[in-house]
Amino acid sequence: MNLNDAAAARLDELQAQHLKRALMPCPVSGRAFDFSSNDYLCLSTHPEVIEAGTAMARRCGAGATGSRLLSGNLDCFEQLEAQIARFKQAEAALLYATGYQANSSGLAALLDKALWNGQEPLVFSDRLNHASLHHACQLAGVKQLRFRHNDVEHLTELLNKHRGSEQAKIIVTETVFGMEGDLLPVEELAELALEHGAVVYLDEAHATGVWGPEGRGLGALQTKAITALKALGHWVVMGTFSKAVGVSGAYLACSPVLKQYLLNRSTGFVYSTAPSPFVVGAIGKALELIPALEPDRQILHTNAQALRDMLHELGFNTGLSNTHIVPVLVGESSQAIALRTHLAEQGIRASAIRPPTVPPHTARVRLALNTGHHGLHVQALVEALRHWPGRKVFHSVDDALG
Ligand SMILES: Cc1ncc(COP(=O)(O)O)c(C=O)c1O
Repeated sequence: MNLNDAAAARLDELQAQHLKRALMPCPVSGRAFDFSSNDYLCLSTHPEVIEAGTAMARRCGAGATGSRLLSGNLDCFEQLEAQIARFKQAEAALLYATGYQANSSGLAALLDKALWNGQEPLVFSDRLNHASLHHACQLAGVKQLRFRHNDVEHLTELLNKHRGSEQAKIIVTETVFGMEGDLLPVEELAELALEHGAVVYLDEAHATGVWGPEGRGLGALQTKAITALKALGHWVVMGTFSKAVGVSGAYLACSPVLKQYLLNRSTGFVYSTAPSPFVVGAIGKALELIPALEPDRQILHTNAQALRDMLHELGFNTGLSNTHIVPVLVGESSQAIALRTHLAEQGIRASAIRPPTVPPHTARVRLALNTGHHGLHVQALVEALRHWPGRKVFHSVDDALG
C-alpha cells in the first residue's frame, strides 16, 4: 500500500466514526453570528492593535529573520517581554511563537530529568488538560498522575501518596478550561502546592484578557500561598496571545533564572524563528488596552450567564461552564456534527468538539461568547437551538450515557 492509499483509508475510518475534521471557510464578515472564535475581546480587529502591529513591522521588518539565539533578537522582543512580565505581575517572561510551542517545549524542559538530578519528576495533571500539555509529558518521557477534573480532593490524595518522595512534584493544569468553560479553584490549588513543595504550571490560554484582576489571568491573583509560591519560583504561568489578545503567540511568565534556563533548553524557543514584529507590536498594544476593558468583561460574563439560563430552560446541558465558554453537551460525535450543521443553516457558526479533544460520549458544540455579541445575537442563537430537531433526544449528557 502506498502512502496516499494509507492516508485515504485512515480518513475513511475517521469519517465512519464521525471524527474526520475538515477546513471550513471562515469569512471575515458575519462575525457577529460567529460563536466559534476565541477572539473574546474582539481585539483582532481593533484599529489601534492593527496600527501598532503595522508600525512595528515598518520599523523592524515583516519577519524576525531567525531564532532569537542567532540573528533574530530584536529590541522589540525584549521590550515586549518586560511588558508581559509587568502585565502578569511576574519577574520575567519569555515569548513564544505559539501556545502549542510554549506548552509542548516549555513544559517539557521543566520536566526534563536532567533538571532534577536525573530523577523523573512526578507530574500531577488534570485529566482534561489541553493536548499540548500531554505532548510535553510525552516529549519529556515522563508519566502523568492524572487527577479528576478540577478535583482538589483527588489531587490531595495523589499528593499524599507521594508525600515522602524525593522526586520533584509538578502540578499542571489550566485556569479556564477551553472545552469545559470552567474555572480552576486556583487559591485551593496554590495552598495544596505550597504544603507539598510542588511547582505549579498554569495554562492561562483562555483566561488571559478575560479573567483575574484587570484581565491578567487567575495566576495574577495575590493570595498568601501564591505570593509564597512565586517567591520560591514555583509559580510558572503560561498564556497565549492567540485568544482574547486577538493576535498570536504565547508567553511563559516565571523567574529570571527560569527564563534563562528555558531559552537554553526549550526546543520550541531554541529551534524556531521568533514571531513577526507585526505580532509583537499588536500584542503590545492589546496588553495596554486590556486592563481598562473591565466593562466589556462584565458584559461578557453577564451574557454568558444569560445564555446558560436560556439553554437550561430549553433542557440543554452546559456541563460545568461558569465562564464565557459555554459547551452544549450532546453525547455522540454524530449529534455534535448535526447540531453544528443545523446552526450553520441558520447562519450561525459554532464548533463541534469530538473525541479525542474531549472524552468519549461527551461530544459537544462549543459556544464561545465575545464582546461583539449583543442580546440580539444571543437571542438568535437560542432560537436556532430551540428549533434543533435533536434537542429532545439528547438534552443531557447523562441521558446520552444512559
Ligand atoms: C488550553 C490551551 N493551551 C494551549 C493552546 C495552544 O495555543 P495556540 O493556539 O496559541 O498554539 C490552546 C489552543 O487551542 C489551548 O486551548
